[in-house]
Amino acid sequence: MELTQAIASRRSIRNYQDNATVTADQVKELIAAAIQAPSWKNSQTGRYYVILSPEKMDEIARECLPEFNANNCVNAKALIVTAFETKRSGFTREGVAENELGDEWGAYDLGLANENLVLRARDLSLDTLIMGIRDGEKLRAKLDIPESQRIVSVISVGVRASDPEMPKRKAVDDITRFF
Ligand SMILES: Cc1cc2nc3c(=O)[nH]c(=O)nc-3n(C[C@H](O)[C@H](O)[C@H](O)COP(=O)(O)O)c2cc1C
Repeated sequence: MELTQAIASRRSIRNYQDNATVTADQVKELIAAAIQAPSWKNSQTGRYYVILSPEKMDEIARECLPEFNANNCVNAKALIVTAFETKRSGFTREGVAENELGDEWGAYDLGLANENLVLRARDLSLDTLIMGIRDGEKLRAKLDIPESQRIVSVISVGVRASDPEMPKRKAVDDITRFF
């Protein structure tokens, strides 16, 4: 799929086909695309926790997501919890923040990586929903995620059951200043 087509056709999908499949190999392709993203000093601090078993997906959705997001994932075939190692991206080797953003650079890098991930999903005719409203500490306990990592989003993966409208976007001229 052309990049412009992948960008244009990606939508947040909250309604998935029940009879679709998502394999571990496909999820590995998504994460391989995430790894290609640029990162602070090539620090590559993104980490991924993949849930494919229907029972575990159900448990994570019920216990770690609010009801509306659990409902958004019904019939998704994978959940990917995304996290990053703290105090590396944006920091010197000695662990000193390079500037006022500190660990926000880790979140920045993870966002870049995750955009690759969701666009690669489109490329494979898969669909995604990035969820930022989740219970990070419950995810940490259930998936044994170390304290050195900040837990960021849960991304559902499946195949869209219908094509949602694109939510309205701002105009380039409204958000850009040229000098
Ligand atoms: C960081 C982030 C967090 C989000 N969290 C949620 C969420 O918890 N639940 C949800 O339904 N959508 C969530 N979304 C999806 C946005 O609502 C969606 O991207 C936006 O409305 C634009 O729609 P589109 O993705 O279809 O273009 C999130 C998106 C991002 C990037």
